[in-house]
Amino acid sequence: MKKTGIFYGSATGNTADVARMIAGRLGVAAADIHDVASTAPSALGAYDNLILGSSTWGSGDLEDDWYDFIDGADALDLKGKKIAVFGCGDETMYDTFCDAVGQIYDRMAATGATMVGRFNADGYDFGESKAYRDGAMVGLTIDQDNHPELTERRVEAWCEQLKKEFE
Ligand SMILES: Cc1cc2nc3c(=O)[nH]c(=O)nc-3n(C[C@H](O)[C@H](O)[C@H](O)COP(=O)(O)O)c2cc1C
Repeated sequence: MKKTGIFYGSATGNTADVARMIAGRLGVAAADIHDVASTAPSALGAYDNLILGSSTWGSGDLEDDWYDFIDGADALDLKGKKIAVFGCGDETMYDTFCDAVGQIYDRMAATGATMVGRFNADGYDFGESKAYRDGAMVGLTIDQDNHPELTERRVEAWCEQLKKEFE
């Protein structure tokens, strides 16, 4: 049985909440949900499937706790693993919506892992996003500030997709 781990960074708890929602849908145990603020990047090695989450801060920046973690993480050889990225942002930050999702996607793609979890961009209202490529989001983008009512449906759709992509 393949093992899935969730790694997140969250300043005010939104991305942590979404991490737990994803875990509930995919049957990931609490012990396999890791806050990157208190986790070594080497912990990624214990899993076949990785779900990485960051909110976006500043102007298109990673959540603070991610900086040290990703410097270690993207230096690992993660060939053979699958990685999906998610994050929380605010659509009214019109030019940087969920940029952290795009940044983590790009840096982790360099590890040789297979990147999965592209998400339909329908229903979003933003100008620019580093998470938007070729007509779709490169991962699950959540806006708890303006559209919390859409979160459960988005998480459910993404998780149903991941169940297939993680096989
Ligand atoms: C000062 C500040 C800057 C922010 N910058 C961005 C941004 O550039 N892009 C974006 O999509 N969201 C931005 N946000 C919104 C947060 O990403 C959003 O509130 C998110 O849900 C926070 O998640 P967290 O509690 O997991 O950290 C910003 C929020 C604040 C307060």
